[in-house]
This record gives sequence, C-alpha cells and structure tokens, in this order.
Amino acid sequence: MSIYEDLIMDHYRNPRNYGVLISADKSIEVNNPLCGDKLKMEIQETNGVIENIRFSGEGCAISIASASLLTEYAKGKKIKKILDFNRDDMLGLLKIKLTPARIKCALLGWEGLMNLVRN
Ligand code: FES
Repeated sequence: MSIYEDLIMDHYRNPRNYGVLISADKSIEVNNPLCGDKLKMEIQETNGVIENIRFSGEGCAISIASASLLTEYAKGKKIKKILDFNRDDMLGLLKIKLTPARIKCALLGWEGLMNLVRN
C-alpha cells in the first residue's frame, strides 16, 4: 500500500470529526444514488467562520475518508475560503488518482458542505 492509500485507510478506520454536532446551525444529508450511501454534514458557524463541523452516516472507504479529510480542512476556516474550495481541491486532499465512480464517492461530503455554505 502507498502512503496515500494508508492515509485513506487511516481516515476510514478513524474518521475525524465523526458524529452528531449538537450545536449545529445547519445540516444536510447527501446521498450517492449509485450505491445508496448517505452522509450527513453539520456545521456551526460564528462570524463567518466554521467554528465546528461534523459528519455521520454510511459510506465506502473513499467517501468516509474524504469527508474526514474535508472536515479537518474546513474546521476553523472562513466560509469565504470554503466557497473557493473546488472539486479539484477536494480530490487533491486524497492524493490518489480515482476512477469516475470513485470520484463520485470522494465528492459526496464536499457536495454537502458546499450546499451548506452556499445557502
Ligand atoms: Fe457508496 Fe462510495 S460506494 S459512496
């Protein structure tokens, strides 16, 4: 296994910021229609900053690891900065090349977070 695959397996087995965010201001559920996997993304926002973020749900290794990496990235960042965080930036966090089906998995949590910060 490459160190990047190790990184994904580590985030899959020990997802960061996993669970329910009691103090959430906004939450959203997103699903991948190809497999039925679902993730819930929740944020707590203070003065334009993502003060706290959590996710929960069921997913494959790539979707869980991606959401975990994304929450680590987003926590403490300004909403403005997250609005500029595009799909290529998200895929870049994973540091491995993915097939189109796996790209859909990797973008599941990101799609949810983008919806939360845009609305
Ligand atoms: Fe369902 Fe990856 S197989 S999100």
